[in-house]
Amino acid sequence: MKTLVVYYSRKGNTEKIALEKAKELEADFLAIDTIENVAGYNGFSNCVKSLISKDDMTLFPYDTDVAAYDKVIICAPIWFSKLCAPMQTFIKKEKHNIKKAEYIFVHALKTDVKAVAAETDKILRLKNDKYTSIQCMYGKIKTEEDFADV
Ligand SMILES: Cc1cc2nc3c(=O)[nH]c(=O)nc-3n(C[C@H](O)[C@H](O)[C@H](O)COP(=O)(O)O)c2cc1C
Repeated sequence: MKTLVVYYSRKGNTEKIALEKAKELEADFLAIDTIENVAGYNGFSNCVKSLISKDDMTLFPYDTDVAAYDKVIICAPIWFSKLCAPMQTFIKKEKHNIKKAEYIFVHALKTDVKAVAAETDKILRLKNDKYTSIQCMYGKIKTEEDFADV
């Protein structure tokens, strides 16, 4: 099975987790990034604005053909209890090209990500194979839980 690990990371936690996953599975990976500034105080307020407005963020172009993969593992931070805005933009754009999906959600606080998994399924119009919730503080993994309701 041809698998793609796609990730967004503002501060590097999700990147570390995603790249380890890609290495473990010997999968290809794709890092998405936004043209909008997300760094520092101004960047943080852009993150907040994008979630409140529900407007898509502008992604830098990438040349990965997502449709060429059997499965996509989506790795993304949680922003205000939701899938981060850049990954929302990506999945809306690629929803027709994703056939099977797994999610890895990274967050700082103890968070129930079931609703995020359900919302992501809704956008992709599929049922995820599995989702993983990773609480990560200061770059260190505190808890990791897998959920698969088959
Ligand atoms: C705009 C914004 C909102 C966030 N909201 C939450 C949240 O609701 N719950 C939480 O546990 N962490 C929240 N975080 C923290 C990130 O999910 C956490 O630091 C994550 O590890 C960041 O991943 P990264 O290093 O790959 O960017 C938020 C971070 C940002 C920038």
